[in-house]
Amino acid sequence: GSAQAGDIHHILLSEEEIAAKLDELALRIDADYAGKDLLLVGVLKGAVMVMADLSRRIEHQGVEMDWMAVSSYGSGTKSSGVVRILKDLDADLSGRHVLIVEDIIDSGLTLSWLISNLRSRGPASVEVAAMLRKPDAAKVEVDVRYVGFDIPNEFVVGYGLDYAEKYRTLPFVGTLAPHVYES
Ligand code: PRP
Ligand code: MN
Ligand code: MG
Repeated sequence: GSAQAGDIHHILLSEEEIAAKLDELALRIDADYAGKDLLLVGVLKGAVMVMADLSRRIEHQGVEMDWMAVSSYGSGTKSSGVVRILKDLDADLSGRHVLIVEDIIDSGLTLSWLISNLRSRGPASVEVAAMLRKPDAAKVEVDVRYVGFDIPNEFVVGYGLDYAEKYRTLPFVGTLAPHVYES
């Protein structure tokens, strides 16, 4: 059915909390990449909000943006960790400092695969910035340099995160009311 106001159980991270965290992350990124080139790689579609809001806070001159779209193989779960590229980068990564931008690390399987894939392309460095991480859902450890918030292992939506493609446009991160995914 269509999304309703009552579909959100509670707000986990407000728009203001997200904004303050992005300010902090952007400061760290600017300090760490001073004097280097910087290529932000956003993972479609979830990362669009954090990419837009984080990149606008980065003062680094000459920062570039590129995008990938990936999907786990087969139907259903992501447990295999095998990922298919739906849209590859336009940029050649050789010698580049790459910062992957993600909305959330859940099992870590997508990111783990992505990091090895991008590392194989000869970049100068590959690091990760993720707005959210669910430590209790990790199936694989991923080394993430910039993390916004560690959150409980609950179904969350908003700020890029979807449930069946809905709720991505919410400006906050909220938990989904059980009636939505149980119906
Ligand atoms: C979601 C999320 C991350 C990934 C995290 O993307 O945006 O990219 O899952 O899950 P993992 O850590 O268990 O691999 P999804 O595949 O739902 O695509 P989307 O970004 O288009 O929603
Ligand atoms: Mn995603
Ligand atoms: Mg999704």
